[in-house]
Amino acid sequence: MSKYSKDVIQILYQHHLDYVSGQYIAEQLKISRTSVKKIMDQLKTEGCEIESVNHKGHRLINLPDKWYSGLVLPIIEAQQLFDHVAVYDSLLSTQLEAKQQLVGNKDTFLILSDEQTQGTGRFNRPWNSAKHKGLWMSVVLRPNVPFSMITTFNLFIALGIRDAIQQFSNEKVSVKWPNDIYIKDKKVCGFLTEMVANSDGIEAVICGIGINMHHDHNDFTGELADKATSIGMHTNEQLNRYYFLQSLIKNIEYRYNQFINNSFDTIRDEYIAASNIWHKRLRFTENKEQFYGEVIDIDNNGFLLVTDENNQTRKLMSADIDF
Ligand code: BTN
Repeated sequence: MSKYSKDVIQILYQHHLDYVSGQYIAEQLKISRTSVKKIMDQLKTEGCEIESVNHKGHRLINLPDKWYSGLVLPIIEAQQLFDHVAVYDSLLSTQLEAKQQLVGNKDTFLILSDEQTQGTGRFNRPWNSAKHKGLWMSVVLRPNVPFSMITTFNLFIALGIRDAIQQFSNEKVSVKWPNDIYIKDKKVCGFLTEMVANSDGIEAVICGIGINMHHDHNDFTGELADKATSIGMHTNEQLNRYYFLQSLIKNIEYRYNQFINNSFDTIRDEYIAASNIWHKRLRFTENKEQFYGEVIDIDNNGFLLVTDENNQTRKLMSADIDF
C-alpha cells in the first residue's frame, strides 16, 4: 500500500460528498496524477465507495468498516489524551503490542487493530476479535497517582465507555461491575486494565477495550448467541466507526480527568444508577471460589457489597459475575 493512501483518504474525507480533482490531490501531496489514480484504485479494492467522474474528480460516498490512520489521526489530535496512535490491519493482540511499545518511554498512546488473532479477555479467555467487526484497542496512560487509586480506574472508564455507546444505541446501555458494558441483557463490550509499576510508582496503565460494532445475529454462534450483541444491532442509522471512536475518546478523556482529580464517591451515585446488577440472584466467582448472592451496595471505594446465601456480607474488589 502506498504511504500516501492515508493522506488521500484524509483529503477525500475532508471534502466528504464533494468532488476533489486528481490534480488537486496530486498537488497537495506532491505526487503524480498516476500515483493518485493507483491509490484511488487500491482504496476502491479495499471497499471504499468512491465515485470517479471525468473532469470532476473523486468523491467519497462510503467507507468500509476498517481503520485508516489518516482518519484516526485527526480524532486523536483533537484531544489531549494521547501523544500518538498506531493503527494496524492485524495484530496478535493490541494489549500485547501496547505492552511492548510502552517500554523505554513515557508516552501515552493508543493502539488500534482491524483484527486480533489472539485477542484475550479477563481470566485469559479468548476474545473474539474478527476482522472489521469491532473496535479492538488498547490505551496506554501514565497517571501520576498512588497505587491504591488504581482500583477505581475501571469504574470511571466504564462510565466513559457506557456514555459513548449510549449515544449510538437506541436501547439502554448499562455497566456490569467491574468490566463489562451491556445493551439490554447482552454484553457489547468488555475491557481489562493492567498496570506496570516499579518502586517509584505507576509506570503505565494499559486498558484493553473490545467493543462489538458491526456484528449481526449470525456472527454470534454457540454460547455467544445468547450472551453477546453489537452496537450495530441496536442503532437506527448506519454506524460510522469514526464518529464512534471520536465520542469514545472524548468520553474516556473526560472520565480519566475525573479519575485523576476526584475520588470514586463523587461518581458513586451515577455509577450505581448505570449498573445492571441490582435485585438479581447472581453467581460470583472470586479467586476460584463460587457462591450465589445479591448485590446490596457499592461502597465509596468502589467495592461491591454482596449478601451471600448464608446471609453473610462479602466485600468484593473484583470478581466474575454471571447473571
Ligand atoms: C473481557 O470481557 O474479558 C475483556 C475483554 C478485553 C478485550 C480487549 S480487545 C482489545 C484488547 N486486546 C486484547 O487482547 N484484549 C483487549
